[in-house]
Amino acid sequence: MHRSVAKLLASLLATVAIFSIAAHARQPQPAHAAGASCLPHERDALLAIKQAVNDTDDVLASWQRRHKHCCRWWGVTCSNETGHVIELDFGGTDLDGKISPSLVSLEHLQYLSLSNTNLLGPDGTSLFPEFLCSLSNLRHLDVSATQFSGRLPAQIANISNLEYLDLSDTHFSGRLPAQLANLSNLEYLDLSWTPFSGRLPAQLANLLNLEYLGLSITQFSGRFPAQFFSLSKLEYLDLSGTSMSGILRPQLGNLSNLRQLDLSSMQDTPTSDISWLTHLHFLEYVDMSYMNLSSADVFLVANTSTSLKTLILINCSLPNANQSLTHVNLTKLEELDLSGNYLGHRIETCWFWNLTSIKELGLDSTYLYGPFPDALGGMTSLRQLHFTNNGNLATMTVDLKNLCDLESLTLDGSLESGNLTDFVTKLPHCSSSKLRYLSSDNNNMAGMLPDMVGHFTSLEELSLYNNSISGAIPTGLVNCTSLQSVALGLNQLSGQIPTLPRNLTEVDLSMNSLSGPLPSDFGAPYLTGLSLSSNYITGHVPRPICELKNLVFLDLSKNRFVGEFPRCSSMPNLNFLHLSNNNFSGNFPPMLQNCAQLISLDLAMNEFDGALPVWIGDIANLQFLQLNQNMFYGDIPANITSLVLLQQFSLASNNISGSIPSSLSKLIAMTQKYLPRQDSPWIEDKANILSVVMKHQELKFRGAAVTDLVSIDLSLNHLTGEIPDEITSLNGLLSLNLSRNHLSHKIPVKIGDMKSLESLDLSRNNISGEIPTSLSDLTYLSSLDLSNNNLAGTIPTGSQLDTLYAEDPSMYDGNSRLCGRPLHRNCSCNSPPEHANQQRSENFYDPVMFFYIGITSGFVVGLWLVFCAFLFKRAWRCAYFRLFDELCDKVYVFAVVTWGRINTKTTAS
Ligand SMILES: *[C@@H]1O[C@H](CO)[C@@H](O)[C@H](O)[C@H]1NC(C)=O
Ligand SMILES: *[C@@H]1O[C@H](CO)[C@@H](O)[C@H](O)[C@H]1NC(C)=O
Ligand SMILES: *[C@@H]1O[C@H](CO)[C@@H](O)[C@H](O)[C@H]1NC(C)=O
Ligand SMILES: *[C@@H]1O[C@H](CO)[C@@H](O)[C@H](O)[C@H]1NC(C)=O
Ligand SMILES: *[C@@H]1O[C@H](CO)[C@@H](O)[C@H](O)[C@H]1NC(C)=O
Ligand SMILES: *[C@@H]1O[C@H](CO)[C@@H](O)[C@H](O)[C@H]1NC(C)=O
Ligand SMILES: *[C@@H]1O[C@H](CO)[C@@H](O)[C@H](O)[C@H]1NC(C)=O
Ligand SMILES: *[C@@H]1O[C@H](CO)[C@@H](O)[C@H](O)[C@H]1NC(C)=O
Repeated sequence: MHRSVAKLLASLLATVAIFSIAAHARQPQPAHAAGASCLPHERDALLAIKQAVNDTDDVLASWQRRHKHCCRWWGVTCSNETGHVIELDFGGTDLDGKISPSLVSLEHLQYLSLSNTNLLGPDGTSLFPEFLCSLSNLRHLDVSATQFSGRLPAQIANISNLEYLDLSDTHFSGRLPAQLANLSNLEYLDLSWTPFSGRLPAQLANLLNLEYLGLSITQFSGRFPAQFFSLSKLEYLDLSGTSMSGILRPQLGNLSNLRQLDLSSMQDTPTSDISWLTHLHFLEYVDMSYMNLSSADVFLVANTSTSLKTLILINCSLPNANQSLTHVNLTKLEELDLSGNYLGHRIETCWFWNLTSIKELGLDSTYLYGPFPDALGGMTSLRQLHFTNNGNLATMTVDLKNLCDLESLTLDGSLESGNLTDFVTKLPHCSSSKLRYLSSDNNNMAGMLPDMVGHFTSLEELSLYNNSISGAIPTGLVNCTSLQSVALGLNQLSGQIPTLPRNLTEVDLSMNSLSGPLPSDFGAPYLTGLSLSSNYITGHVPRPICELKNLVFLDLSKNRFVGEFPRCSSMPNLNFLHLSNNNFSGNFPPMLQNCAQLISLDLAMNEFDGALPVWIGDIANLQFLQLNQNMFYGDIPANITSLVLLQQFSLASNNISGSIPSSLSKLIAMTQKYLPRQDSPWIEDKANILSVVMKHQELKFRGAAVTDLVSIDLSLNHLTGEIPDEITSLNGLLSLNLSRNHLSHKIPVKIGDMKSLESLDLSRNNISGEIPTSLSDLTYLSSLDLSNNNLAGTIPTGSQLDTLYAEDPSMYDGNSRLCGRPLHRNCSCNSPPEHANQQRSENFYDPVMFFYIGITSGFVVGLWLVFCAFLFKRAWRCAYFRLFDELCDKVYVFAVVTWGRINTKTTAS
């Protein structure tokens, strides 16, 4: 799936490239205007224009009254013959402020670019300034990527000489004025990435000189006007991402000059007739991704088109029958993408293997299987081969030595087996290796990572997550000086961690068998993410870790670290610090007072002691705080209630005493009113991410619900006093565990207000009084334990409570003065304590408790994985990608689901 995004990005870039070539071609030389000095009234107009703009970057520094030759000013071009200003180019300057009406005085202006500026109209609004429409000599008008919005004024048709009009990436909306059809000289019209809507005016088919028409990502609807098929000069047509229909018609073949055609992600009806393709003799680029072509003979038809360089057919429901071609005509083909089509035949029988012109080959999610053919080794033009998510049925033993241009090879989730040593040995061996991305995650690869990996000095990303790679991390890796990201998690790597390449920013070595102490210097000062979790690393964390000022994620959990975490002065960017399941000791790390960005802190299952700091409330962004199973003592600082974003808090199994702070209502992230979690960018899918056991119930947290895991666990401490009534304001809590303390007094009467509660455990305290009747309002409750307290009186009735009792009849045990249904104890007489029952519940309790804690730490691993996926996948893939956010999120979800699945496996084992 990610491939398709990359593809769309590529086509976007191609568009941009074409546009910039076109723009460039038309852009005359900068003004050298030897003879002609500028005309005084035009100079005045230019100065007035400068006056109105806000030139914070000083790009108009040369625009000075004392520099009389205004034709030499930056961005200005004059005519050699007449001396009039004929060009004004503000493109890409980020200028803001207003466009002065004085611009109209430049009446000989032929070229105006405001592209990529933030300029507004003279009235300070983003409405298109109509005075621009009186510049009747304009041939080239570019307002792309500006703030302009609202309707496009029909007067634009007054600029009758206009040849080039770029309105793309603006906020113009509503219908397109049909008067545009009067611009009979128009050759270039780009309306893409705008919210223009309604029907595309059929009159525009009068623009017989049109060569370029960009309508991508607009909201035009209805049928694509048939009149457009007579635009015989059209060379470029982009309708991608629009919902117009009726484009797939034989008449498309009338556009005989077409060179580039993008119909991807259109919502057109399935078609079997693509014979038009055979008439487009100049066609170089076709993208029909996401169109249903299940009944078309795409390859047979495309094979007649000898001009084709790019053929992109992602997710086209192509038929899975092997479409073999006896003679392949497509000798110019450079890019072929068939990702997302279930082809399901042997790889070697594909028709394209001997096309040595191919530079990019996309075969993700095609379920091709079997060995790659040796012909691959002869495709010496190849730059990218993407073969991910193909169901682990392929093998790759081809010698790729001669593919000197190979930049990117991704095989994730596709190989049945493999030997990494052999695989790396067969990668391109050229004087200068161009390989930048190598990814073979989830592929059952065995063997070792050989030292010669250090030859790949251009490598930026190496990902071999979830294989069976053994042996040590080779010291040669340090010679991969361009390497930025390494993912070797979930393998069988052993030995010590070597010095890392200097430019690394992301390192995942989690879930291996690495041992020994950490190197005192990682050698990678720019690290932003480091996961070493689930290894056998010993010793102290070396102090130089404090120098890693860019660290955002640090996961050292499940190792054998000892001693204090270094007293770094600060780690200003740290979002995640997971140290759980080690033998760390000492106080709550003082460094954390200067880690205001921290979102998740996990110190669980260590030997930390001392009191919790009074400044704990200063870690203002904290959402997840796991301190369970340590030896912290003293009170819970009241300041903790300053953590208004806190949604998960565990202090279970420490030596905490004193009472529960009463200002709990400040913890608004635990209330239902607080819903920003819904906008959380982390996860947007319905897939099962993780299941959490809360006491006796296994709860599946789906999609965004992971972030909705809202809980407090203070069990197994020495807390005294009452359960503060304020706790009932935390109506977003799913789980509350206060068991095994010395809490007394009554259960808060309004306990029924905690509407979200699914699990409530108050067992093994000294709570007395009656069970509030509101308890039966907790309709989501699936686990309840009130056993071993001093509760008395009648048990409230309610079908939910009855069901719970049926599932766990021990939940009221050890409260000898409770009576009424469902206990078989009449409220009028006193029964003796039930020793037998109590004993049973004790045996039962501990393993459950243990399980619960285990699962909680599983949750934290899951959480880290989610963020890791975010860090590794989303960040770089989507950096430039704006409008296909949706697709991007799918990529991201894919990553999350994969990681989630792995996590489930780990938790299960
Ligand atoms: C100019 O831009 C700067 C930076 O964006 C801003 O602070 C300033 O207020 C602007 N001045 C005017 C006159 O708009
Ligand atoms: C104007 O003169 C310059 C310098 O002599 C030259 O490079 C340019 O091509 C001329 N432009 C036109 C439109 O004649
Ligand atoms: C290859 O192209 C030629 C010329 O366009 C055409 O005549 C021939 O039918 C094509 N071959 C196939 C197999 O389509
Ligand atoms: C590819 O191989 C087939 C059969 O081996 C052959 O007919 C065809 O001409 C070859 N195509 C190219 C471009 O080499
Ligand atoms: C992998 O290949 C290397 C070199 O051919 C060989 O020495 C090694 O035993 C192989 N490893 C496995 C696990 O097959
Ligand atoms: C790294 O490269 C240098 C220079 O090519 C070489 O001398 C050295 O042995 C390499 N280091 C390792 C660990 O392979
Ligand atoms: C390492 O990163 C720096 C800064 O990003 C960059 O300038 C440099 O070229 C990189 N070195 C290599 C070998 O890629
Ligand atoms: C408690 O937390 C708040 C908010 O972070 C802070 O302003 C205040 O100083 C803290 N109180 C103490 C006693 O540290």
